[in-house]
Amino acid sequence: MIRVEGVQHRFGAMQVLHDVWFTVPKGTVFGFIGPNGAGKTTTLRMMATLLEPDEGRILVGGYDVVERPNDVRRVLGFMPDGFGVYERVTVAEYLEFFASAHAIPLDKRKRTVEAVMELTDLGPLRERLVSAMSKGMKQRLAIARTLLHDPEVLILDEPANGLDPRARIEMRDLIEQLQQLGKTIVLSSHILTELSDMVSAVCILEKGRVLASGPVDRIGQQLRPEQKVARAVKVRLLSYPEGCDAPFRELPDVAHVERGPDGFLRIAYHGGDETVAAIVARAVGAGLKVVRVEPERDDLEQIFLEVTRGELQ
Ligand SMILES: Nc1ncnc2c1ncn2[C@@H]1O[C@H](COP(=O)(O)OP(=O)(O)OP(=O)(O)O)[C@@H](O)[C@H]1O
Ligand SMILES: [Mg+2]
Repeated sequence: MIRVEGVQHRFGAMQVLHDVWFTVPKGTVFGFIGPNGAGKTTTLRMMATLLEPDEGRILVGGYDVVERPNDVRRVLGFMPDGFGVYERVTVAEYLEFFASAHAIPLDKRKRTVEAVMELTDLGPLRERLVSAMSKGMKQRLAIARTLLHDPEVLILDEPANGLDPRARIEMRDLIEQLQQLGKTIVLSSHILTELSDMVSAVCILEKGRVLASGPVDRIGQQLRPEQKVARAVKVRLLSYPEGCDAPFRELPDVAHVERGPDGFLRIAYHGGDETVAAIVARAVGAGLKVVRVEPERDDLEQIFLEVTRGELQ
C-alpha cells in the first residue's frame, strides 16, 4: 500500500535521510520507530505530500506523491505530531468545519460527522468545547478529523505521545477497530514499548538510515541470521508432573529446558514462531495441561535495544 524507495533528503547542508527503503502492506498496522531526530517526521510528511524527496520516490496506494499529490491526499489521512486544535469550538463544530473543508456535500456532511464521532467515541462529547478536553480526548478528535474523507491509509505521527495508560489503551482499541475496517495505518514513536502491542510490522530508523524493516518476527532473523543465542518461551502448566520437561527435549529446535524460579518451564529454542507452535503441539500431545505460553521478553523491545545499540535516550 505504501512503498518508500531509496528516499534521500537534506535540509541545507544536513543529510537527514540516506537511502530509505521500506514497504507497508495493505491492512497492516506499521510502526515507524526511531530516536529523536532520526527522520521519522520528515519521512511521514513526504508520504503526506507536504515535502518532496530529493532522491527516490514514494508511492501511496499506487500513486507517486510528487506526480499525483491530489490522488494521494484522497486516499490518505495525516495526523501531524503536536496537532494543534482550534480551541473555541465544540467537537461537532470542529468536525463539521473540516468536513466542509474536505468538500463533503452538505447532505452527507452530518451523517459523516456522526459516523466518525461514533467510531471515535466522541458522541457524548459533541457539545464539549475543544479547550475543555483532556489530551487523550484531543488526540481522538485529531484522529477523527483525519477520518472524515474515509481514507484507506492513516499516517499518525506520535499518536500515543503523552497519553496516560488508560488513554493509550483507548487509542490501541481505536487503531484495532480502524484496522478491522481495512485501513492501513502507520504510527510513529520514539518509544518502542508505546507501539509494541499495536503493530505487526516495523521499520527502525536511526540517523536517517533504516536499520531493519518488515514483520516483527522476521526482523529478528534479519538482524541475527546466524543467531547463536536462542530465544525462549515460558510455558505455564496447570501442574508439573515428574518428567514433564522430557517431551520438549526431543524437539530438534529446542536448545534447553529448565524449571524457572516461579515454577514454569523455560524453553530456549532456535527458529521462529513455527518452533513455538511445535512446542505447544508437543505439550498438548504429551497430555500436559497448558495454561499459558509467553515470550520471555518482548521481542520488539529486544530487537530495538540491540539495533540501536543503546544510543536511544
Ligand atoms: N524544516 C526543517 N529544517 C531544517 N532541519 C530540519 C527540519 N525539519 C527537521 N529537521 C532536522 O531533520 C532531522 C530529522 O528530523 P525529524 O523531525 O524528521 O525527526 P524525528 O525522527 O521525527 O524526531 P522526533 O522523534 O524528535 O520527532 C533532525 O535533525 C531535525 O533537526
Ligand atoms: Mg518527529
